[in-house]
Order: sequence, then structure tokens, then C-alpha cells
Amino acid sequence: MDPVTPPVTTRFGSRPMTLSLTSRNARSSAIRDLLAHARRDGVISLAGGLPAPELFPSDKLAECAPAILCDPANLQYGLTEGEVPLREWIAERHSIADHRGTRPDDVQIVSGSQQALDLIAAVVIDPGDTVVVSEPEYLGAIGAFRRAGADLVAIPVDSAGFDVEALAQRLRAGLRPKICYVIPEFHNPTGASTTIKRLRLLAELADTYGFLIVEDSPYSALRFEGDPVPSMCTMTDNVVQCRTISKTLAPGLRVAWMIGPQWILDAVRIAKQSADLHTSTVTQHLALALLSDITWYEAHLLRIAAHYRDRRDALATALHELMPNVPFHRPSGGMFLWLTFPADANTDLMLARALDAGVAFVPGSAFAVDNDMSACLRLSYATASPDQLREGVARLASVVDLP
Ligand SMILES: Cc1ncc(COP(=O)(O)O)c(C=O)c1O
Repeated sequence: MDPVTPPVTTRFGSRPMTLSLTSRNARSSAIRDLLAHARRDGVISLAGGLPAPELFPSDKLAECAPAILCDPANLQYGLTEGEVPLREWIAERHSIADHRGTRPDDVQIVSGSQQALDLIAAVVIDPGDTVVVSEPEYLGAIGAFRRAGADLVAIPVDSAGFDVEALAQRLRAGLRPKICYVIPEFHNPTGASTTIKRLRLLAELADTYGFLIVEDSPYSALRFEGDPVPSMCTMTDNVVQCRTISKTLAPGLRVAWMIGPQWILDAVRIAKQSADLHTSTVTQHLALALLSDITWYEAHLLRIAAHYRDRRDALATALHELMPNVPFHRPSGGMFLWLTFPADANTDLMLARALDAGVAFVPGSAFAVDNDMSACLRLSYATASPDQLREGVARLASVVDLP
């Protein structure tokens, strides 16, 4: 799929008008372009990572909304750092989970964790600075760091997650990054989780070599089995943690937060003033109403994790039965599963045939940084029903060159 390229120059009357260098270098996300095709009638989309709409807490939001909307304070401009009661709730939960004294001032509310990545990149990265990411990597992170002018260095991911030993070798050989971006649990796109041993080594490396870890954890609450992984905040101070309600409540609310050292939060606050002044006060209060009804919220988390686990099981079973020779790692949470075909496969080409057969996926090349990822593809089990997942795999099996 060719990314959309904006026109570089237009005319304002007689004067030429040119886009900024940053915009000229930016490319539209391949996933966005592809989703347009995936929305065609009859296509089963295993492509986008959209949360299941039937899990959105519409009734609970409708119940809480009238009181929130009738209070004029919730319709007024708000603090750039975010609404105090929401930051208090987050700080308290964070302190309990991570056994650290997190204060509301250590929390910055943002309009989605994507905004956190964009703001962190804007305040930390100068053009030419090095940012370490994994390969394959979440497109939104690649985009945010590249837009800030970063040189990306790609470290592989395997079934034990981010290959921190490979990073250690590169650091010993002289690599000096400013940021290392990591999704410790249920990585997008591979679904892999990084072992605690590797995360501890990453924390040690950050302290030794002086780089900032950006820990992005949007899928942590979607755990189907195994023990939760402690936040990297418990391992080093050189970390900014990004969390969101997009996968647990609803992405349309655009509420997320960052927890990190004061020097970075201070800079982010100034940048956010220019970006959007503050995150919507209305949706922050809606989020708080749901999060702080702890009995409801914990039951909701169990319900959504069970829902996605059933879909993971349906997809994994269909793959084992219908495409038994294509290896994959069974994710223990999150929304994604990564398929690896023989090295000469080309999932970009496969996609056109798959769309004709009525199924969509995201080719591995969409998540590539340096290397050719076109022998791989990402499947999302978040939105389709178990029956659709099985039918989607049957359609995929009919068009792929199976080994
Ligand atoms: C790894 C990762 N980080 C961040 C985001 C963006 O989340 P948000 O909706 O909070 O901006 C996503 C969304 O898919 C994601 O997969």
C-alpha cells in the first residue's frame, strides 16, 4: 500500500507555499491507508487494533455523564497537568502497585498515550539523536520519534520480548541513545512480553549509559494468564511510564497519563500548552467516575480480559488447525499475534490476494525500521467474533503460500 504523500508546494495567490521540512518527511500510516480497504463490505478485518465496541462501557458512561455535564467546572478550561482528582486517583493506584510514593504532581494527563510519545519526543529529541526501538515496532512510536528527527536504532524482539542482551552489546560497542522505547507487555505488533530479567538488565543499562526509558504499557490490563510484570519505575528512576484507558474503557475518550521525573514533566507541560492546553476536562471526569467505582471497574477488567482471551484462543486454534506449518508465539495478553512465514514470503503481495478473498491483516513491512519484515504479518483478534476469526483464517489459508 503506497502511503499518502501530501503535496509539497501549493500557491497562495501568486506566492508559493511550502510545507515544513517535518511534514514533507512525514508519511501517512500504512495501517490507516489499509483500513480503508479493510472496511469494504464482506471483508473480515484482522488488521487494525480497534478495541471491541461491545465492551465499551456505554451504560456506565451514560449513567455518570449527566452529573458531570451539569457541573460548569467540568466544562471550563482546566489545568495543563490534568484534573487534580484524576491525578490523585492515579498517584494512589500507582503507589500501591509499584510500592513507591507517587504524588499527583508526578502524573501528567495526556490526550492518549500517543500524545505522550509525541510530547516526549518533542522535548527530548534533537534532530540526529539516537532512539532505540524494537523491530518490528509500533508504528505510532516510529512516527513520533522520526517526526522529531531521531535516528532510530532497531533491536530485535523474540519470544522473550525485547532483546536487551543485543542492546547491551551495541552499547558496549559505543551506541549512545538518548531514549530507549519499550512495550514490556503484549507488544504491538508481536504480542511478545519481555522477561523481568531482561527488564532489570535494561534498567541497569539506562543507569550505566544514561538514557531515558519510555515504557509504554497500553495492554497491561489485558492479561489472560501469568503474573503481572512490575513497572520499570520500580527498577530505575530513568523512566517515563505511559498508560492509557484506550484499551480498557474507550479510545474515543482520549485520556491517558505519563508518570516520570520532574524535569521531563515540566518540559512536557510547556509543550502540551502549545499542543492543546489540556486534555478534555469532560472526558477526564468521565474516566475518573468509571475508574474510581472500583467494584465496577475491577469486574469490567475481568470481563474484557475474558473476552479477548476467548478471541485469542479462537484465533490460535484456527491457526493451528488451518495453517499448522506457520509458526507463531501465543500471546498471553493484549490484542495481537505475529505470524512468520519462510524468508522468501512477501506479505505485502499476499495482502492484495487476501483482500480479494475477504480478509485483511497488516503486513510486517508496516512495522519495519531497518530490516525487511515482509515475511511476517500481524493479526488482531480484538474486533472480530470467534466465528469471524475462524473464517478469516480459512480465507487467509486459501491465499497464502503455505510451507
Ligand atoms: C503500543 C501502543 N502505544 C500507544 C498507543 C496509542 O494509544 P492511545 O489511544 O492511548 O493514544 C497504541 C495504540 O494502538 C499502542 O498500540
